[in-house]
This record gives sequence, C-alpha cells and structure tokens, in this order.
Amino acid sequence: MSTLKRCHNISDLRRLARRRLPSPFFHYLDGGSDDERSLARNTAAFDDYELMPNYLVDISKIDLKTTVLGRTIEMPFFCSPTGMSRLFHHEAEPAVARAAAKFGTYYSLSTLATTRLERISEVCTGPKMFQIYILKDRELTREFVQRCKDARFDALCLTVDSVIAGNRERDKRTGMTMKPRFTLRSLASFAAHPGWWLQLIRHHDFRLANLTHRDTVMSDAHTSVIEYVNSQYDRTLNWNDVAWLVEQWGGPFAIKGLQSVQDAQRAVDVGASAIMISNHGGRQLETSPAPVDCVATVRHRWSWASRYRSRDRRARRPYDCRSSPASHPDSDRRRAPASRNRGRRARF
Ligand SMILES: Cc1cc2nc3c(=O)[nH]c(=O)nc-3n(C[C@H](O)[C@H](O)[C@H](O)COP(=O)(O)O)c2cc1C
Repeated sequence: MSTLKRCHNISDLRRLARRRLPSPFFHYLDGGSDDERSLARNTAAFDDYELMPNYLVDISKIDLKTTVLGRTIEMPFFCSPTGMSRLFHHEAEPAVARAAAKFGTYYSLSTLATTRLERISEVCTGPKMFQIYILKDRELTREFVQRCKDARFDALCLTVDSVIAGNRERDKRTGMTMKPRFTLRSLASFAAHPGWWLQLIRHHDFRLANLTHRDTVMSDAHTSVIEYVNSQYDRTLNWNDVAWLVEQWGGPFAIKGLQSVQDAQRAVDVGASAIMISNHGGRQLETSPAPVDCVATVRHRWSWASRYRSRDRRARRPYDCRSSPASHPDSDRRRAPASRNRGRRARF
C-alpha cells in the first residue's frame, strides 16, 4: 500500500508532508502569521458547531451538486488557490487541476503559481478559476484578464487580504525563499530529504511562471515571498479598483478574503458575483475572526442585497470609497466570545 493510501485524514497528510518536505517548505505550507492564533482558531471554530441530523429519509442517492460562479460542481467545495505548488510536489499545479476535474469541482490557479495559466487550460477539463491580484503594474493585471479570457477560464477571483504580506515568523526563521535559499541550516534539512532532491534535479523550474516575463518580478534573485508581496502589491487598492476589474473581466467574479457584512454589501455594490469568506487560512492578518463564524451573518446580508441588486441600476457604478466605513448602517458586529458559542447548531 502506498504511503498516501495509508492517509485517512488531514492529520495523516500533514504528518506525511512533514516527513517528505524540507523544513522551509513544510513550514510555509503549514504556518500562519504572527502567533498563529487565527490559524488555530480557524479550525477550533468548527468544534463549536453541531449538525442536527434528520433521520428516516431516503439516502440511497445523494446529490451534492451545486452551482458556483456559473458552473455546476459535483460537491459543495473546491480547490482554493495555492501559490508555488511545485515546492510541495514536482507535478505541481497540473496534478491538482487534473484531480479537481476528475472529481468535478473547480480548480483555482494562483497568480503565484509555478505553472503557466495556458498550461492549466490544456490539462484541466473541469471548471477553472484564476486568482488575480491588482498589482502596482496595472498593465500586468490587464494582461492576466486577457490571457484568462483567451485560455477560457470560467471565473476570476480577486484576493484582497494580501496587500501587506502576513508576518509569517516561521518563514523568517527557515529562510523560506523562492527559489530555495541554501543556508547552512536549511541545507541540513534539504540533505535529510533525498526524495525531494531527486525531483529537484528533474523538475527544477521554481519560477513564478505567470510573472517571470516582467522585469519587476523576482526572477533569479532569492527573494522572499514577503519581500515580493510588499514590493509589488498596490497598497492604494480600493473599491473603485475592484469595480474596474469587474468591468474588465465581464464574467463570473469572486472577491476572496472578505469577512465583514459591510464588505459583503460593498461587493454587491461593485457587481461581484460571489465572495469567499476567508482570512487566508490565518496566514495574513492575525486576530481576524474564523471564517466559519462569519458565514451566517454575511450570507444573510448577501442574499438580501443580491435580491435588490438587479433592480438597482446604480449597482454597477464604481463604489464611492470616500464614504467612511463607520457611517455604513451595517457596521459589523464582533462574534460572541468562544465560550458563548459552544454547542451552537449550524444554520447556514
Ligand atoms: C501554501 C499556501 C499557499 C497559498 N497561496 C495562496 C495564493 O497564492 N492566493 C490566495 O488567494 N490564497 C492562497 N492561499 C490561501 C488559500 O487559498 C485559502 O484561503 C486558505 O487555505 C484557507 O482556506 P479558506 O479560505 O477556505 O478558509 C494559500 C494557502 C496556502 C496554505
């Protein structure tokens, strides 16, 4: 039985990754920002929920199909974008894209991928989405939109929670860079993983495949992800820019990384088709609430606002970012302390 077949849950997979990967890459994959409280809370929050079963219904045929961003998918979840997949496995993004297609769900390709988006279009027969950033280099963002249209991507998702790189202390300790930086400390870990080395010799192209044609992008330099993000992401980004991108794309469009009711309303206002409630897996802004705790209130607001969007001709106008968030009638409320939530029943 292959090692993978002996993995029965996420903890087993995590243990296997720890064994297989040099430590800088394992910790990049596994870590969160700062004290990793959001990371821990993201998973712990699920323990606060119970699902109330209803028995004596015919379950001989179970249909989990749902529609996401205009495409029917076979199960109510999909593959989120993950940068630099080649660090974790030599088959990289195409392997995940093929698996997603096999199981009938979306594959999302990150801007920071190690595979060109045109290649994903060739190998992925299922629904596919491109995760985009609005970078300082707007021409590059515009170019991505055109390439995605040409490569027939189904949807675009704009990640908005990464304008400033999360303070990932594990990456700082391990010297996690792209390409790998070989310090004495990391060398010991690389030496202990000959399997990874063997693959490195055969598949050594770790470049950010969709960005390397631009001079501004880290090409040969050993730049850390944090350094790259801080130099390229546009900190002036606001809702008018999102409206601009929605317009440029003109197709199914999700905003990834929102959490508040207020922002959900704004997403509706700029014409987004969907939002992904997320805190980037606790990898960005420490102390942001667990996404699962935000779902019920945001969903309620989204359904309500979307119902009126089609009637409101102003909905597609650029958002007036001068209006103060505090003046918004639905300013967000913080989640109740964890102890008060214990044993809640999920009502999503
Ligand atoms: C190794 C790794 C790389 C990631 N790279 C990206 C990325 O390039 N773009 C992005 O939007 N999210 C990225 N994410 C975040 C995930 O897409 C996702 O938001 C996170 O795993 C948490 O899941 P959730 O959003 O469903 O809560 C990455 C996550 C991990 C673990």
